[in-house]
Amino acid sequence: MLTFDDLLCRARSLAGGGGRALLGIAGGPGAGKTTLARRLVRELNGTGDPWAVQVPMDGFHLADAELDRLGRRDRKGAPDTFDAAGYAALLRRLRDEADGEDTVYAPGFERVLEQPLAGAVPVPPPVRLVVTEGNYLLLGTGAWRRVRAALDEVWFCESDEDERVRRLVARHEEFGKTHEQAVAWVLRSDQRNAELVAATRERADLVVPLPL
Ligand SMILES: Nc1ncnc2c1ncn2[C@@H]1O[C@H](COP(=O)(O)OP(=O)(O)O)[C@@H](O)[C@H]1O
Ligand SMILES: [Mg+2]
Repeated sequence: MLTFDDLLCRARSLAGGGGRALLGIAGGPGAGKTTLARRLVRELNGTGDPWAVQVPMDGFHLADAELDRLGRRDRKGAPDTFDAAGYAALLRRLRDEADGEDTVYAPGFERVLEQPLAGAVPVPPPVRLVVTEGNYLLLGTGAWRRVRAALDEVWFCESDEDERVRRLVARHEEFGKTHEQAVAWVLRSDQRNAELVAATRERADLVVPLPL
């Protein structure tokens, strides 16, 4: 059975190849991607100088004003509500500029505002492993293909489906939705996205059953 220590070993060996490695963590909304990436990065770094950094795909959410302009605000979170080409370009930069002089800045995602936040995640030159996580890393359509191509490996988080939905509802409530709004959003919008993501599971290099 796969353990968290196995994942740590695998991540370390990816980063042991000389240059900078990019590891992707995919999975449906609420599957536990962000939590797993955070734990991995924390354990890998220990108390020394950080050599692993977490970069969220969520930083490439289009801003609400742009979603309004495109008429896509009501399905925020779907693949075409992200700047996939910008994400792919950032991943390429993270690889190409690994030994450069400058810190590369990735955008973060502000959960209360539900908006991307530029310049939130610094990736300084000594970083040897970028752990990037999000729903659509394995989608393989349009610019998402370039996202996958920029990554050395992609792992797929698989959690119990009822548990995933329960946690997702709880997270929406935590960030301001009423219980009814949260359930409605999860059943309508998130569920469609979850089905798209589930269909990409077989493209993963490793399936990670959660919780570990
Ligand atoms: N192993 C776990 N045990 C308990 N709760 C968890 C676990 N992993 C994630 N969660 C909770 O589930 C919710 C979704 O997890 P998150 O990592 O944000 O998922 P994702 O990034 O895939 O959407 C969060 O509220 C998180 O705190
Ligand atoms: Mg997340």
